[in-house]
Amino acid sequence: MAARPALGPLAMAAVTAVAMAVASPAGSGESSVYLSSWAVRVAAGPREAGGLAQRHGLLCLGQVIEGEPYYHFKHRGIRQKALSRHWGWNMRLTKEPKVLWFEQQTVKRRTKRSVSVVPTDPWFHKQWYMNNDINPDLNILSAWSKGYTGLGVVVAVLDDGVEKDHPDLSANYDPLASYDFNSNDPDPQPRYTPEDENRHGTRCAGEVAAAANNGICGAGVAYKARVGGVRMLDGLITDVVEAQALSLQPQHIHIYSASWGPWDDGRTVDGPGVLAAEAFYRGVTQGRGGLGSIFVWAAGNGGINYDNCNCDGYTNSIYTLTVGSATAGGHRPSYAEGCSAILTTTYSSRISSNMQIVTTDLHHGCTHTHTGTSASAPLAAGIIALALEANPALTWRDLQHLVIRTSRPADLQAEDWAVNGVGQKVSHYYGYGLLDAGLLVEMAKAWPGTRPQQKCSVNALHTPQNIGSELSVSADGSPCSKGTRHILSLEHVQVQLSLSYSRRGDLEITLTSPMGTTSTLVSLRPYDTSQEGYKDWTFMSTHFWDENPNGTWTLRLENKGDAYNTGLLTSFILHLHGTDEDMRSRRPPAAGTAECLRRDTQGACEECSSSSPYAHGRSCLSYCPPRHYSRPRRATHVCASCHPSCYTCQGPSANSCTSCPFNSTFQELTHSCVAPQGISPQEELQSDLLPVLICGCLILSAILCATYFCALKGGSCCPRAAKTV
Ligand SMILES: *[C@@H]1O[C@H](CO)[C@@H](O)[C@H](O)[C@H]1NC(C)=O
Repeated sequence: MAARPALGPLAMAAVTAVAMAVASPAGSGESSVYLSSWAVRVAAGPREAGGLAQRHGLLCLGQVIEGEPYYHFKHRGIRQKALSRHWGWNMRLTKEPKVLWFEQQTVKRRTKRSVSVVPTDPWFHKQWYMNNDINPDLNILSAWSKGYTGLGVVVAVLDDGVEKDHPDLSANYDPLASYDFNSNDPDPQPRYTPEDENRHGTRCAGEVAAAANNGICGAGVAYKARVGGVRMLDGLITDVVEAQALSLQPQHIHIYSASWGPWDDGRTVDGPGVLAAEAFYRGVTQGRGGLGSIFVWAAGNGGINYDNCNCDGYTNSIYTLTVGSATAGGHRPSYAEGCSAILTTTYSSRISSNMQIVTTDLHHGCTHTHTGTSASAPLAAGIIALALEANPALTWRDLQHLVIRTSRPADLQAEDWAVNGVGQKVSHYYGYGLLDAGLLVEMAKAWPGTRPQQKCSVNALHTPQNIGSELSVSADGSPCSKGTRHILSLEHVQVQLSLSYSRRGDLEITLTSPMGTTSTLVSLRPYDTSQEGYKDWTFMSTHFWDENPNGTWTLRLENKGDAYNTGLLTSFILHLHGTDEDMRSRRPPAAGTAECLRRDTQGACEECSSSSPYAHGRSCLSYCPPRHYSRPRRATHVCASCHPSCYTCQGPSANSCTSCPFNSTFQELTHSCVAPQGISPQEELQSDLLPVLICGCLILSAILCATYFCALKGGSCCPRAAKTV
């Protein structure tokens, strides 16, 4: 044991008491394991040490530290490990006058000093969607506990700029993933106005990659990813600007996060122009070395206008990964719009408190009021960055397969949840449900890839048909199940329509698959009074994913409005995408319960399997949640409670906090959390010191007693490993 600084006996006892309170109990009270190996101090030099070792039948394995008189002696004859000292050899070395000091070596219990998975950022306790406050959350802590933080992944936020010198963003800011297409220069710094209306991009960037453990604001989902800003929304937006933004540095940027599109006014039907469409196609075919750029898209804020994101050609593109929104209570926020193109969902607001999404804000600030569907997409972009770190070889299609498989219906509320032909629950508001980051990285790591994409189109209408109040048209999927390029498992299904109608918004359009799944392509849009109909508009649904396309598909058009509506369907082409492999069996590993190996009489888990080694109440986790620290217990670990004053901690005492909860501040010197009101820091310290002093006195008395008895018995019972001659 290292020498302690010169302290009085009482202070020293106090130090010991504190150290014992803080240290993990792993080493305490456990007997040592002795090796047939000694450290020996011999002043006379290496030759003398060698001779001495030989004289006692030991091997001299050389100097321990170059230039220092310590030598490593070893004996082959003695068994490698023992629970007691080797009395005979220790006696011989004791009697050897040239040995100034020796110590038989013991096995030292050492653990890697890993910082807790829970970040210490002062606002992390407000990040309810990822800090275990609600169940289920996005399960980010689980992904972090497996070591994924977005390292090596580059995300670009296509928005109104990014405050690149923000202290919580600057460390991860990537100028190569940034550009200003509004002013045509490389600097995406937002334009500052009195109303701060250009704060959106900075807020989205922080959700993805705000730095962690730096004492500023909260933590981004992928807090070691690099993030760039593409300034494009603060000016006139043209097809050229969109295409430039979507095709910026496709070999450097991995993920593009976008929260914009045509007006969400419930009456617009619009999509990418020629150049933007080309940028998407080139992105997925050539970006990321041919694996495909990842375009993460917000579903849209048109909920209050009864809008439908299938009337938005960006969200309903097969090349974008469209993200819906949910509140903390599992409800649909009023702004969120639904459609069959949504793949997955992340949280975006919390009704029960004013705490929304926590992220970086303009003027080097921090906010907890970021919300809207555009708060959801960056959270998904961050989670996908974690998946790309776990497996950088994933293609754009692999990621969509994985996101579908690792989204969970959980407790998300909607009337339209339905089970599709392969047994998966899917909704027009949430897609396949709440994205689970822990599950996603786990499944991404082991994903064997997907066979090439097949596309098969069926022209299902040969003569125009009157729509009237209702029209059904069938399409035969069997040609797509035959031949060398057949589809066994579907991915995206598109319906390309041309029709005229007296009031477009009154027409509800659904598609039913051969396996019996019905997906609504567009629902009633009361504000859409257009008489233009749909001109070669392409709807998309993700609800048939993994189904077999063979058989009869049925398109149904239904008038949900005025009885006098009339129209004519002139074209219906069914585009089926998928692969020739049966993908149904690719399911995520069952999570949770199987991991507890042993329970106590109350049902609390006492021992967990190695994949989720931390016992927390009835369950096993891959980390200890906030307000808990990991404490080794026998073969396993338990998540023990921190002192109530701490938010995160390294031990049970009030002086082992690593971050503090709401309304208290972290004291660097004492590692404690102090509430601004109530007792002052000094008083807190004194009231803390009192039990320490009492404890110290007791320990000191014990030591004095023991020394007294040792002296009586001639020192033989003193537990000392070393002897000084
Ligand atoms: C498609 O379905 C038809 C009718 O059920 C069946 O006869 C045919 O064998 C199926 N084709 C394939 C490739 O499964």
